[in-house]
Amino acid sequence: MSINYLRKAEIFKQGIDRRDYSLSNNNVDDEYDNLLPNINSSKLFDLAGKYPDYRYKELTNALRNSFGINNIILGSGSEDLIIRINSCLKKSGGIGVLLPNFYRTTETAGKYTKFYSDYKLNSEILDINFLSNQIERNKKIKALWISNPNPMIGKIYKKEHLLHLIKKYPNILFIIDEALIDFTEREKEYSVIKDAQLLDNLVVMRSFSKLYSLAGLRVGYATGKANILEKIKENGLTFPVSSIAEHCIINVLKKKNVLLKIKKRIKKHKLLLEEVLSKTPDIIISKSATNCIFFGHKKINTFSELLKIGIISLELNNHDGMREKNFVRITVHSSEYLFNDLFHRILKFIKLNKS
Ligand SMILES: Cc1ncc(COP(=O)(O)O)c(C=O)c1O
Repeated sequence: MSINYLRKAEIFKQGIDRRDYSLSNNNVDDEYDNLLPNINSSKLFDLAGKYPDYRYKELTNALRNSFGINNIILGSGSEDLIIRINSCLKKSGGIGVLLPNFYRTTETAGKYTKFYSDYKLNSEILDINFLSNQIERNKKIKALWISNPNPMIGKIYKKEHLLHLIKKYPNILFIIDEALIDFTEREKEYSVIKDAQLLDNLVVMRSFSKLYSLAGLRVGYATGKANILEKIKENGLTFPVSSIAEHCIINVLKKKNVLLKIKKRIKKHKLLLEEVLSKTPDIIISKSATNCIFFGHKKINTFSELLKIGIISLELNNHDGMREKNFVRITVHSSEYLFNDLFHRILKFIKLNKS
């Protein structure tokens, strides 16, 4: 089923005082003013008036230097890459998707084999053996999509576990969507981006829409062996990224210290919210490695009761692969203003629903 939660959030926003905490991006913080370059009207006119360099040399080099990678393919957001990769994979069939997952990944995969995640509520880490056993029973698949971290449960696989699996099944192409990895605390323990340069059966994707909060620029990229990227390239636009977006990203990559500040604030806010929620006996929290908190109330409809106090959360019931019923996802922002708004609404939610 296609879950267009963007449209759903729009509908819920109508009417009373409601704020959308359902999207995993859209962080709002004055600190971002220090991230983007100042573009005056003559520079804007200059950028808007010309095609980008068709090789995107400057942007590609900036990405290479920032992330220690070599082969790069750009997309108009990582969503564009998901669609293009799936359109390549569909020709040979045998696609597998680890669920739950981002709806565009399943929607554009056509027919696919379902794999499921196993996890514990009190741990951020996903169980690789559970996935490995499923692959052992479905060894004929040709490709497997994994989001790491998982956007719908917030859990993550450890890098060493993933690498073991990728090496164990050389005939399966592993496509790891790391769109949310920038939010994790010790990224090096989880990311396989650097390994994509060495392994023949690995493609890693990243996005500038999440921690960088540049969803409107529409920039994503993937890295892996050159022959795989060439195939994906055949199936796309000559200029997937605009000259303005290219200029912004090159400059943003010079200011990663701003992102560290933002990340620290999100962590602080997330801990405070989880602390008040965990003190309420009827609320069950599931630990996450991302900027989102995941929880459910034992006795009431979590989504509807949050909506009554103006919090639009992401209702997780309809997602294939979600084990818990009545759970929601709420995005934690770095801005003090939005944190205070969310915190006070959560306190109200707890007070109103005490048993
Ligand atoms: C896991 C995951 N991958 C990819 C995307 C697409 O992001 P974008 O196209 O903005 O880069 C999303 C967006 O929500 C996501 O959650």
